[in-house]
Amino acid sequence: MNNIILIGFMGSGKTSVGRQLAKKLQYSFCDTDELIEKENKTSVRNIFSAYGEEYFRKLETATISDLYKNMTRTVLSTGGGLPITEGNDRLLRRLGHVIYLKASQETLMKRLQGDTSRPLLAGENVEEKVYDLLQQRTPIYEKAAHFSVSTDHKNFNEIIDEIIGLC
Ligand code: S3P
Repeated sequence: MNNIILIGFMGSGKTSVGRQLAKKLQYSFCDTDELIEKENKTSVRNIFSAYGEEYFRKLETATISDLYKNMTRTVLSTGGGLPITEGNDRLLRRLGHVIYLKASQETLMKRLQGDTSRPLLAGENVEEKVYDLLQQRTPIYEKAAHFSVSTDHKNFNEIIDEIIGLC
C-alpha cells in the first residue's frame, strides 16, 4: 500500500480520519491546509482575506505538485476545494489512492454549524452555501476519486477499516 489521499467537503472528517488512519498504518500524516499555513506563516483565513480565493487555489496546486517528489507511506488530507481546480484531480491520482469521504448535507450541517474558521462559510445562509457548493462539487469529487466511502452514521474505526480494505 502506498500513499492515501483523502478528498471531500469541509466537515467530512478528512483531517480527523486521516490522522487516525495514518496512526493505524504507521504512516506519516499531512494536511494541505497545514502545509500552506506553515509555508506562508499565516492562516488559511488570512490568506483568503489578504489575497483572495484565487491566490489560495494557486498555493494548493503548488503544494500538491511539490509533494510528488518525495511523498511515500503518507496519508494526505486535502482542503475541500482543492480537487475543484482543473488538473488537480490528475495530480492527486498520481500521488496515490484517492478516497472521497462522502457525507450528507444533514451530517455536514451538524458538523459545520457555528464554524468560524472556514472563510467560504462566513456570513449568512450557511445552509444555502453548503447546499450550493455540495451540488457543484459532488460530481467532481466522485470523478477525482478512485473510491468513495460514506461517513454518515459510521464511527472512525469503521471508516478507517473500510479505507484500508479498499487500498
Ligand atoms: C475550503 C476548505 C478548507 C480550506 C479553505 C477552503 C473549500 O479546508 O482549504 O477554507 O473550498 O472547501 P477543509 O476542507 O479542511 O475545511
